[in-house]
Amino acid sequence: MKRGRFISLEGGEGVGKSTQLPALAAALRERGREVVRTREPGGSRGGEAIRELLLTGTDDRWSSRAEALLFAAARTDHVDRVIRPAVLAGRWVLSDRFIDSSLAYQGVAAGLGIAAVRAINAFGIGELFPDRTLVLLQPEGTERARARDEGASDRIGGRPADYHRAVDRAFREIAAAEPERVRLVDASGTPEQVTARLLVAIEDLL
Ligand SMILES: Nc1ncnc2c1ncn2[C@@H]1O[C@H](COP(=O)(O)OP(=O)(O)O)[C@@H](O)[C@H]1O
Ligand SMILES: [Mg+2]
Repeated sequence: MKRGRFISLEGGEGVGKSTQLPALAAALRERGREVVRTREPGGSRGGEAIRELLLTGTDDRWSSRAEALLFAAARTDHVDRVIRPAVLAGRWVLSDRFIDSSLAYQGVAAGLGIAAVRAINAFGIGELFPDRTLVLLQPEGTERARARDEGASDRIGGRPADYHRAVDRAFREIAAAEPERVRLVDASGTPEQVTARLLVAIEDLL
């Protein structure tokens, strides 16, 4: 059977990942692809249990390194139980966040270093890097996330503005370092305009 594809959607809080994922899935289904929609942290039963540990409680609930390992553990279960089987069965897997969020949030913003975070994730995900990673860029993301969450942001979304600015810078650096896999996509304009840009950025994989 022909291998499917694995696409991740990335970017900071409020840039439109969760809005775009179903739209991109629908566009791919129209093109005859079988699509699996998933998210991180979570995406599998074990991954969702770890998500709860990661996104609730006070900011200092976990040390930075423990937090990074929990993300990596959740991701490993997600890859083993959901992503790898689906890709091997010929499906297109679309994930709302994946390893690049760990590189940006834990590696850069929390200061653990991209190399260290990549190493702990490499053990878990093996060969299963995304075929394409779409990083949404939207300067108004922070305001949109604030309006959406109405003061009830999760454990990580609620971190200070400096942390989130570092995340944004990190995504740009990651894209510059891996231009074949990681593409920056302008997420301004209507949702339909953004979906059209995302499709252009995966055209060569179709
Ligand atoms: N293109 C867009 N124009 C205006 N508002 C948008 C657009 N895309 C998403 N939104 C809104 O912005 C907020 C954040 O979008 P969301 O998809 O939840 O972001 P993320 O999943 O990246 O955090 C939501 O309230 C969503 O409805
Ligand atoms: Mg979201």
